[in-house]
Amino acid sequence: MSADLVLTGLRAGYGAVEVLHGVDLAVPAKAVTALLGRNGAGKSTTLAAVAGLVPARAGSMTWRGEDITGWSTRRRSQEGVLLVPERRGVFPDLTVRDNLAVFAVDDAERARMNDVFAAFPVLESRLDQRAGSLSGGEQQMLAMSRVLLQRPQLLLLDEVSFGLAPQVTALLLHVVAELARDCTVLLVEQYIEDALRLADVVYVLDRGTVVFAGEPGELRGGSLPLAR
Ligand SMILES: Nc1ncnc2c1ncn2[C@@H]1O[C@H](COP(=O)(O)OP(=O)(O)OP(=O)(O)O)[C@@H](O)[C@H]1O
Ligand SMILES: [Mg+2]
Repeated sequence: MSADLVLTGLRAGYGAVEVLHGVDLAVPAKAVTALLGRNGAGKSTTLAAVAGLVPARAGSMTWRGEDITGWSTRRRSQEGVLLVPERRGVFPDLTVRDNLAVFAVDDAERARMNDVFAAFPVLESRLDQRAGSLSGGEQQMLAMSRVLLQRPQLLLLDEVSFGLAPQVTALLLHVVAELARDCTVLLVEQYIEDALRLADVVYVLDRGTVVFAGEPGELRGGSLPLAR
């Protein structure tokens, strides 16, 4: 598997605090890579750094061979990098319809609206409802609709299944698996079992460094810092 996204010795943090102490990741093309680890390990910070929301203080980041370390968030997004953030993926005061209108910015994206309703039929019956009044699962479906409309090259998913019923999680992860046929996915998941079933490659992060890299089958419990 060739790597699409490569992080080398990435350091990043907030203010005086360094959170990532030299992270090395190789994210294969058109596959699912899972990033696991305890609360506070630096998983969300890693995704934010890849999206350009948190600057790299040292180290580098390449995307399909090109150094993108200094690229702005905007440029990354124009090149097809999309982050679905932890529990903040929708505009709560807008209706479902208006959220979808914000996500679909051009004709090509608007033309994919049927993909959204095929994947998540419930959203079609909720078009005039405020997104903030949807159930947690419906909100996450709406957040994932952005992905179906925009068809990113690199999809960064931060705990899409957080707090959701197993059935909804299964639906969302099925959509992720479908997307990964022609999209590179880096996902952070709380349900380790689901993540391992879906992932082609697994990384475990602990206190800002990678402590495991390999295939899901190689990851055998005990000593790894996965307890949540
Ligand atoms: N905006 C911020 N300002 C200051 N510190 C932050 C900020 N965001 C995260 N941190 C700190 O950085 C560290 C790593 O946080 P991060 O959110 O990346 O962890 P995580 O692995 O995603 O954890 P969780 O599983 O709880 O989501 C934590 O100690 C956290 O308190
Ligand atoms: Mg997090």
